[in-house]
Amino acid sequence: MNGFDPVRELDIRRDLSDASLRLLLQSEQWDSSLAAAADDKRRKIYGDEVYLRGLIEFSNFCKNNCYYCGIRAGNQNAVRYRLSKEEILDCCTQGYDLGFRTFVLQSGEDPFFTDALICGIVSEIRVRFPDCAITLSLGEKTRESYKAYFDAGANRYLLRHETADDTHYRKLHPESMSLQNRKRCLYDLKEIGYQVGSGFMVGSPYQTADCLIEDLRFLQALGPDMIGIGPYIPHKETPFAAFSSGSLSLTLRLISILRLLFPYALIPSTTALGTIHPQGRELGLKAGANVVMPNLSPVRVRKLYELYENKICTGEESAQCRGCLEQRIAAAGYRAVTAVGNVKKEKQNDDDC
Ligand code: 5AD
Ligand code: FES
Repeated sequence: MNGFDPVRELDIRRDLSDASLRLLLQSEQWDSSLAAAADDKRRKIYGDEVYLRGLIEFSNFCKNNCYYCGIRAGNQNAVRYRLSKEEILDCCTQGYDLGFRTFVLQSGEDPFFTDALICGIVSEIRVRFPDCAITLSLGEKTRESYKAYFDAGANRYLLRHETADDTHYRKLHPESMSLQNRKRCLYDLKEIGYQVGSGFMVGSPYQTADCLIEDLRFLQALGPDMIGIGPYIPHKETPFAAFSSGSLSLTLRLISILRLLFPYALIPSTTALGTIHPQGRELGLKAGANVVMPNLSPVRVRKLYELYENKICTGEESAQCRGCLEQRIAAAGYRAVTAVGNVKKEKQNDDDC
């Protein structure tokens, strides 16, 4: 195709046709120019700053049975744990002293943590650390629950849609779950006023290029502030044990496409990316990501929050992990910052009014 440059078009127009997206996804041809354009874009908006988020994985109990996930209810061999409110607050204190100004509280869908318990934890964090952002990642809840957490002081919510394709969704999840409810959750969260994060796994079983295009289209409709993607990685105690991991190159390609489609988004370079390649997170940053999420959970539980196998950073104390990441970020040519790191919004052009 003479003169056809999908990267340039994506960069300028912030969109592409399905056909051009498919080409971009399925070829290595544009990988270096795509990553360069994405890095350029992120530097224009976020400079060389990489935001640190302290991740606290406070319960690995889960009532769901997603076929890909190592902490699914059906995994009888998972060793389950819950942190107490005091333990969670201790993690925050440690994190605060290390400079973290965002805490991400993540768990499986654990009915033990009632709304009253979650609100109690959130409001205590809000009182003790008023200058911090509180991000929740607790799965699908009712609109009322989301509203209660928000009123208690939570600001952000992460809920990956996992796949926006109905048929694909059915292949990854049992009958009890639905894509429709997941989308409902995301729109409720947005309406309530959260900064919302969504995303999907790359290379999950049965995923096609068309599924990925649907994922991108869904994200365009939702308009999230944060977009988290990472490669699928198998876990031996799941029905998908025999499927292989998603690829590094496709994940990087998608990070760059996301940066160009959503210039202002907060995009993490994920632990899963660091798990499939020793330099995975650094490469993710160079491909356009601008967030990393070091683990603040107590070391004794880290290995137990095992969504997939060989997860990295499970043996390190929080301070070590933070130091390690800071060095890695610097070596990759960026700067770790401890600011609260809210999403930057595009300035409205007066001419548009
Ligand atoms: N491989 C990679 N990512 C996974 N997740 C769950 N299981 C796996 C796996 N086997 C991701 C899902 C979920 C997030 C917390 O972790 O996308 O939303
Ligand atoms: Fe966690 Fe290196 S980033 S130990």
